[in-house]
Amino acid sequence: MRYPTNDLENFWLPFTANKDFKRDPRLVVEGKGLYYTSHEGHELIDAVSGLFCSPAGQSRPEIAEAVHEQMLELAYIPSFNHGHPAAFELARQISRITPGDLDYVFFANSGSEAVETALKIALLYHRATGEGQRMRLVGRERGYHGVNFAGFSVGGMVRNREMYGLGVPGVVHLRHTWLEENRFSKGQPENGVELADDLQRFCDLHGGDTIAACIVEPVAGSIGCYVPPKGYLERLREICDANGILLIFDEVITGFGRMGTAFAGQRFGVEPDIMTMAKALTNGAIPMGGVAVSDKVYKTITEAGPEKGIEFYHGYTYTAHPAACAAGIAALGIYEREGLFDKSAAMEDFFLDQVFSLQDVGVVTDIRGIGMLAAVDLAAQDGTPGARGAGAVKDLYKAGVFTKVTGDSILIAPPFVSEEKDIERMIGTIRDVISAY
Ligand SMILES: Cc1ncc(COP(=O)(O)O)c(C=O)c1O
Repeated sequence: MRYPTNDLENFWLPFTANKDFKRDPRLVVEGKGLYYTSHEGHELIDAVSGLFCSPAGQSRPEIAEAVHEQMLELAYIPSFNHGHPAAFELARQISRITPGDLDYVFFANSGSEAVETALKIALLYHRATGEGQRMRLVGRERGYHGVNFAGFSVGGMVRNREMYGLGVPGVVHLRHTWLEENRFSKGQPENGVELADDLQRFCDLHGGDTIAACIVEPVAGSIGCYVPPKGYLERLREICDANGILLIFDEVITGFGRMGTAFAGQRFGVEPDIMTMAKALTNGAIPMGGVAVSDKVYKTITEAGPEKGIEFYHGYTYTAHPAACAAGIAALGIYEREGLFDKSAAMEDFFLDQVFSLQDVGVVTDIRGIGMLAAVDLAAQDGTPGARGAGAVKDLYKAGVFTKVTGDSILIAPPFVSEEKDIERMIGTIRDVISAY
């Protein structure tokens, strides 16, 4: 352990019950490959890739070395009016694996910042085409697009919104895609394509030419793996095209192989105009987010800008930070050399069979999954949503499996370097814990 932990008081943990945590803390002191080690010396198998961040496993030396070398050579340079080689190289490498012509990449430092950036690009694009009246944004109930103002406004998770005022104006929400009749669907559910028609209803109600963009997660991740019904994303794309609306896919979780393809857009055969990414972009090693935009979006905005003036008044002090770029290049190198996107695709059937084997556990009310992403819903405890999940966080940790719990759903997203025996261990441990409920 490199740093002593003398006092737990001063660190305010995010999305955490701080008082409860500080009474019974869970500190992780080491992460190597598929395993974390707790401060008490317990081993935890990582069933959620950190937080959907680390498909190549924890603490990869190749990434550490690349960052170390970059930090000694050029630790910082702003990207405002300057550049450095790693930024251009990472953008080039990303553009090789993005769907279609999403070939231009803007860098941010997190998924939340990527979302803010994407929404601003959408508004700017319409300004550039002379359609500045397009100001409305469409999100979706139960969607998660990070915690910043526009992100929580287009997002649809009540707890993330209810305390923070009005958010950005002019946002409307599609209905979420969880349907009772789709319970225990493996892969894309049969029912619910018509839920995409909500977008057409917004066009009919507000005027299609007042809507700038529709943002969705291709597979809603944080809420607990809501897989798009068959035909749903295609329908959204059609309605966007018919009404001049930009389609934004938030691929912060689904990007970089989670669906067995580089991005979910390729798996579902639907190309967005704008796409966000983060998390696995650096295998989680250094914070970084990005936005890939189509040729049309980039060129429309840059060509509409003044010849020598700035086209996009936006950016971060740490946009394309050299350490993050080095980590990104190293991570993409690992994904390619080890064929990790293909490995993810090859493991999908085994993984989903394992997860769906939990269907016979009494407390399980639904299971959903696609690619290397799944969620197991547990019945609420004493009618209080979230209480069972809060207990499960602790019980799973004590039993030696590291997962994410949202409400009463356990999220499972193994690293792609997992073998069958590792997945059996993850699911076996989860079974032991929830069978006792
Ligand atoms: C789809 C999606 N968008 C945005 C975010 C926000 O990312 P960050 O926590 O890096 O700001 C997340 C985080 O889980 C996410 O799942």
